[in-house]
Amino acid sequence: MNNEELLNKEIISMPRIGDMAPDFEAITTKGKIKMSDFAKDKWIVMFSHPADFTPVCTTEMSGFATRKNEFDSLNTELLGLSIDSVHAHLGWVQNVRENTGVYFDFPIIADIDMKVSKLYGMLQPNESETAAVRAVFFIDPTKKIRLVMYYPLNVGRNMDEILRALDALQTSDKHKVSMPLDWKRGDKVIVSPPKTLDELNTRLNDDSLEKVDWYLAKKSL
Ligand code: BEZ
Repeated sequence: MNNEELLNKEIISMPRIGDMAPDFEAITTKGKIKMSDFAKDKWIVMFSHPADFTPVCTTEMSGFATRKNEFDSLNTELLGLSIDSVHAHLGWVQNVRENTGVYFDFPIIADIDMKVSKLYGMLQPNESETAAVRAVFFIDPTKKIRLVMYYPLNVGRNMDEILRALDALQTSDKHKVSMPLDWKRGDKVIVSPPKTLDELNTRLNDDSLEKVDWYLAKKSL
């Protein structure tokens, strides 16, 4: 494989749901980190932004920062990334703190060699060859990728949806249930459809469930 083929292969590396999060070392605003060194009992939300000192990115990073306590309460570490230097990151963090009082108190990777962006499919050359798209990777405590979002450069993400999806993943794991359209904490959840006739008969006689039909039933947690 020649260099160009190698480079192309790297660019199209797209970790998918169910894959293990590729390991890497990187320099961040909180020093050197290694993905595999994150605490074994924590979720990680890793997200990229196209560039420091840009308007949409400033609103998004401020959103992550102001709602960090909600990620904390979901046992989740935040990890930002862009293809900018640590120097630029520090300048931007300080600039936003001076302007708005919001402090980006989580590590932001300085991915100037694009190593991590390429490894995680954040560099999507038909959108931009020099900036990462707006990606979000939800990584569980076993380091498995559980949900991926990709947004283009010109549309900011929705922090309510990022937190809702994280809560839904964790609640689904804990109670072995599925989450219906627009599920949010407190709503009923979907119980798995029966797999045998015995389970079907039990289901039909279970008055504690809200049943639309035998295969679609909900319960409160
Ligand atoms: C922004 O964050 O506003 C932005 C960044 C890169 C390209 C376009 C917009």
